[in-house]
Amino acid sequence: MLEKINNICCIGAGYVGGPTMAVIADKCPEIQVNVVDINQARINNWNDSDFSNLPIYEPGLAEIVKNCRGRNLHFSTVIEENIALADMIFISVNTPVKKKGIGAGQASDLKWIEASARQISKYAVGKTIVVEKSTLPVKTAQTIKNILEAHVLNTSNDKKFSILSNPEFLAEGTAINDLENPDRVLIGGEDQDAINLLIDVYLNWVDKEKILTTDLWSSELSKLTANAFLAQRISSINSISALCESTGADVNDVALAIGMDKRIGLEFLRPGPGFGGSCFKKDILNLVYICNHYGLYQAAKYWQTVINLNDWQQKRISKIIVEKLFGTISGKKIAVLGFAFKANTNDTRESPAINICRDLLEEGSNLHIYDPRVSQDQIKMDLGHSQIIDSQNLLFEGKWEFSKSVELAANGADAILVLTDWEEFKTLDWEKLSKIMRSPSWLFDTRSISNAIEAKSFGINIWRLGDGALN
Ligand code: UDX
Ligand code: ADP
Repeated sequence: MLEKINNICCIGAGYVGGPTMAVIADKCPEIQVNVVDINQARINNWNDSDFSNLPIYEPGLAEIVKNCRGRNLHFSTVIEENIALADMIFISVNTPVKKKGIGAGQASDLKWIEASARQISKYAVGKTIVVEKSTLPVKTAQTIKNILEAHVLNTSNDKKFSILSNPEFLAEGTAINDLENPDRVLIGGEDQDAINLLIDVYLNWVDKEKILTTDLWSSELSKLTANAFLAQRISSINSISALCESTGADVNDVALAIGMDKRIGLEFLRPGPGFGGSCFKKDILNLVYICNHYGLYQAAKYWQTVINLNDWQQKRISKIIVEKLFGTISGKKIAVLGFAFKANTNDTRESPAINICRDLLEEGSNLHIYDPRVSQDQIKMDLGHSQIIDSQNLLFEGKWEFSKSVELAANGADAILVLTDWEEFKTLDWEKLSKIMRSPSWLFDTRSISNAIEAKSFGINIWRLGDGALN
């Protein structure tokens, strides 16, 4: 039996694997942590001597990588060897929604998980604990188990595997703090020795009371449920934002008033252009899929509405912009401030900015997009080249350009559209901006973060999400 974990391998050096392993290496200097990935470019960036080139922007991450890289934190594409060396292997590969086949548009595509499990089964040596870290559909552990056990049966060697579920609850932008001070650590599994070994890793910095253990399925389902509940709160407050606009109420006042009720709480009640990120939509779709699978159609429908509301929120924002700009935005310049799905990340997966910009492009608008962390190449991947072909093969008139500053984006613009809650958008110089925009100019603030009153005082028309009194 293993006495303690000396060597960890993490498959997948992405938004989950990278920060999680950096914190484990930092907190457990006696454990060697090898993070491996098939993507050579990504690994090169993790190993770049310039720490501002790490592939992921996450406050506090570069400092930790600086401390640990080369000491007990290593990034490489050498997968087989590092699997063989490991006592414990974390699977942190991507699990996007399936694009085709059975469950397309709903179920997660597990091909990367399966590929990882096959690699582990082939190259692992002796007893190995396999930990699911990526967000996964319930019962994925069974798939991993089947693959690993099949290999052991076929080869009758001394390999032995234990599967644990240890879902990651970190949020991007606050990942390091979430990892260093987690609300809880959840470990699901059947093998108590393996569970204890993982607990020992966390005990290096997490209080014992915060470590929960459950069976595998409860652990997997808890992750999906946590994300579904969080997303549901956002859809709930966003539905109220629309009602506030119609009734003259202010959604931020409503959010505060209800949030001060301890039973409701203040967190995750910020109205906005809809939730984005790699997890919420995918996890709810998984929940819907699994409910349908078990014949629980009402439950499936219930969770589906959380996504429907999110889609509707994005659509209605684009519609309002067109209406306010005299019913047409064809050829009009709109400065889009923020493209990431939230502040403090360069991640654009499922960002509401993608759908909203697409709608505005379809209406023929000329978008100038500025984001402090998202690259032009990333936006190109999300929006395509400047001109987009729609489903009927018609060429949209709209076009977009990347701007290097708020001023460049706003110069001559008819409107400024705030889509991401970046800190710097809270303190924009409205006097200056009002002078360089084209009149009548508009501010559309979907995050309620800009100083709209000041903007108004310089003659800019205002629309603020959920603010029926101001609009
Ligand atoms: C989420 C979960 O929070 C995290 O626990 C899980 O591990 C992964 O998924 P993440 O997607 O990184 O994390 O970001 P999160 O802070 O949850 O925000 C998700 C989306 O909801 C963002 O687009 C954000 O702008 C939006 N949001 C969040 C709101 O619109 N209002 C809020 O009050 C909170
Ligand atoms: P997440 O947000 O879940 O971390 P990412 O897409 O940021 O998702 O990261 C997942 C990483 O997993 C990617 O860098 C991808 O190249 C890597 N990956 C996927 N499949 C494998 C595999 N079989 N072996 C090694 N790395 C893999």
